[in-house]
Amino acid sequence: MKADFKFLKLEIYGESHAPEIGVKIGGIPVGCELSLNRVENFLSRRRSVNGVWSTPRREEDAPIILSGLEKTETGYVVDGEINICIKNSNVRPSDYLDTAVVPRPSHADYAAFVRDGKISSGGGRFSGRMTAPLCIAGGIAQELLDSIGIRVCAYISSIGGVDGASYKTEESIALHGIDVETENRLKASAFALLDESVRPQMEERIRAAAADGDSVGGTVDCVVQGIDAGMLGDAMFDGLEGKIAYSVYAIPAVKGVEFGAGFDISKMRGSEANDEFVIRDGDVATATNNSGGINGGISNGMPLTLRAAFRPTPSIAAKQRSVDLEKCEECELNVKGRHDSCIVPRAVPCVESAVSLAILDEILALRDGIQLYE
Ligand SMILES: Cc1cc2nc3c(=O)[nH]c(=O)nc-3n(C[C@H](O)[C@H](O)[C@H](O)COP(=O)(O)O)c2cc1C
Repeated sequence: MKADFKFLKLEIYGESHAPEIGVKIGGIPVGCELSLNRVENFLSRRRSVNGVWSTPRREEDAPIILSGLEKTETGYVVDGEINICIKNSNVRPSDYLDTAVVPRPSHADYAAFVRDGKISSGGGRFSGRMTAPLCIAGGIAQELLDSIGIRVCAYISSIGGVDGASYKTEESIALHGIDVETENRLKASAFALLDESVRPQMEERIRAAAADGDSVGGTVDCVVQGIDAGMLGDAMFDGLEGKIAYSVYAIPAVKGVEFGAGFDISKMRGSEANDEFVIRDGDVATATNNSGGINGGISNGMPLTLRAAFRPTPSIAAKQRSVDLEKCEECELNVKGRHDSCIVPRAVPCVESAVSLAILDEILALRDGIQLYE
């Protein structure tokens, strides 16, 4: 799967039950120094854990550098297209014998069967597993963005109908972004919440759904700081919202993306929705941030805020109607296999990755360029 970015050449390869999956990243300037210090953090936040929300499928996810990075005394230096893979060591194709001809409702099985002539074991290239290489690329992108003062941070804003604190409820985040201490706490957590007091309620919703053989969805927010007014994006098809949404929609199970006040803005009057201009600390700023840091497709200097909606995990243990595609008969399906009862906590680094990659591509495409290394 190749991303249609401007400068970054991103390709994610492999399948859920293939011997390996990985990512090729071209377009990062040769000579650029990297420590890869973010990669393990991204992978560990995405990795399944002993949580009520998480699949019991455990994978070590140890990245193997195949090419494009030369080891130095202090880290690595880019010397071509980067290619990093991960071995799939914990696969159980036997769990997928039933779904070889009976598609799981709302997974990619049926659409892929029509396209490819078969349903691939474990969801094939449509599996959430493919977000592990996305997170490797995201970790690299975020290291480069860090070096030019752009900070990208995501967190859970709702699960199963339980809302958490968010840039929509905390004015200070919409106007000033996330402070470093909170960002570090979020990036150290497998269940990243601005206000952790709602965690028991969210976990209870997941537990109750799982007990019924069911699943729940939710939302992940992302806040980006350090993009100057006028720096990125342009009108219409070159707009920053479209670029970022394109990347975020690559994450399996994302069914909606909104910026700033998003769909709620449609219910406001102009006087409520408009972000009035003010002078803050000597600079032009806005009094509110309903636009999510973007006007006319161009960054306006305010924190960039967005929300992604995740569907409930499609693979559920409860009985569902499906069809036997071989016999062309309706049948009942009990999905087997190991599945997340809620995708949302593990999706947080995936959203950070998708957003970081889209922004890095915009940075690399800047005509006058930005020095990403000494
Ligand atoms: C981190 C992550 C983990 C996922 N885990 C599962 C899972 O365990 N079982 C499942 O059925 N879907 C899982 N998904 C979602 C499916 O891959 C996705 O719903 C499917 O490919 C269909 O794509 P769509 O929902 O975008 O239409 C996961 C997605 C992500 C991002």
